[in-house]
Amino acid sequence: MLVVDQLNRPLHDLRISVTDRCNFRCPYCMPKEAFGAGYSFLRDPQLMTLAELTRIVRAFRALGVEKVRLTGGEPLLRADLPEFIRVLKHELGVPDVALTTNGWLLEKFAPALRAAGLDRLNVSVDSLVDTTAGKLNGLGFSVARVLRGIDTAAELGLPIKINCVVQRGVNDGELLALCDYFRAHGHALRFIEFMDVGNTNHWSPDRVVPAKEIVARINARWPLEPVGPAYRGEVAARYRYRDGHGEIGLISSVTEPFCRDCRRARLSADGKLYTCLFASLGWDVLGSLRAGTDDMELKNLLSGLWHRRLDRYSDERATRPATSEAQTKVEMSYIGG
Ligand SMILES: C[S@@+](CC[C@H](N)C(=O)[O-])C[C@H]1O[C@@H](n2cnc3c(N)ncnc32)[C@H](O)[C@@H]1O
Ligand code: SF4
Repeated sequence: MLVVDQLNRPLHDLRISVTDRCNFRCPYCMPKEAFGAGYSFLRDPQLMTLAELTRIVRAFRALGVEKVRLTGGEPLLRADLPEFIRVLKHELGVPDVALTTNGWLLEKFAPALRAAGLDRLNVSVDSLVDTTAGKLNGLGFSVARVLRGIDTAAELGLPIKINCVVQRGVNDGELLALCDYFRAHGHALRFIEFMDVGNTNHWSPDRVVPAKEIVARINARWPLEPVGPAYRGEVAARYRYRDGHGEIGLISSVTEPFCRDCRRARLSADGKLYTCLFASLGWDVLGSLRAGTDDMELKNLLSGLWHRRLDRYSDERATRPATSEAQTKVEMSYIGG
């Protein structure tokens, strides 16, 4: 059964935040000051168990979901992640299971992820220079261990893309060095515009480097040509290097929003359904499951929630008044980036 929302967008992708905890403190996502000792992370009974996750994804599969991305927080902090991937692939038959990670634990977990059937991996690398990388992970960690994790996963045959959040005056001077390194290693880079997610990351429009500018700067060094989207709803605008050394992608949710094609639902770490990254309210799917909702009711509930969906935050960003207290957005680590 396929379901479309009020803007005729089908439900196709599900992004699950499997934990709101993280072993990094990237200032653009979980700044140390806001996510320090006093912050109350979710505790075990609040998180979805493997059995609950399985029931929820089964219902989403029945509504047409073909792609599941596991994220967080840092998903590799969850010990049962390989088992969940195995369930997604082998019990629920999800065609495309992807994972987004900061890579810190990747060297250790890559074999288990591969064995479980993971299809693809996105690893976040914002800088190749330790002083900058250390500032951008908030804890002074060197980038070498992340790069070793990427090499290990690549040797196991996992397709890898690199996510890089670009901020003016922070890491935009490294665009060419990043391209150079990942061209040589055969991994596509995805440059992401710094977004106004959450309420604590001190976002400002001056720090956003527009995707067009990123393309122009790279094109001046290695000429690029556009590649059409691989599928409907692909959020990255893709370009290939004319010299045949791979491709890059641009995720320009600030300067060129793609809401009209967004077909992604998000499940927070405590089982609330959000129909937009910038939403402030989610629907308590886990609560309803724990109150006794059966599988058919669950499917009808999800289908109804998607059917009523009208969200197009990024399209409306320019015309909306500044966020008020009452409109506080949820944090990215909780809803899943
Ligand atoms: C929230 S993280 C979760 C997964 C994992 N911890 C990681 O960092 O890859 C998912 C992605 O969101 C990106 N991200 C976080 N905050 C962002 C922001 N303010 N603007 C743009 N991208 C952001 C991260 O760089 C990462 O690639
Ligand atoms: S971007 Fe990823 S690694 Fe960085 S703080 Fe957020 S969840 Fe953690």
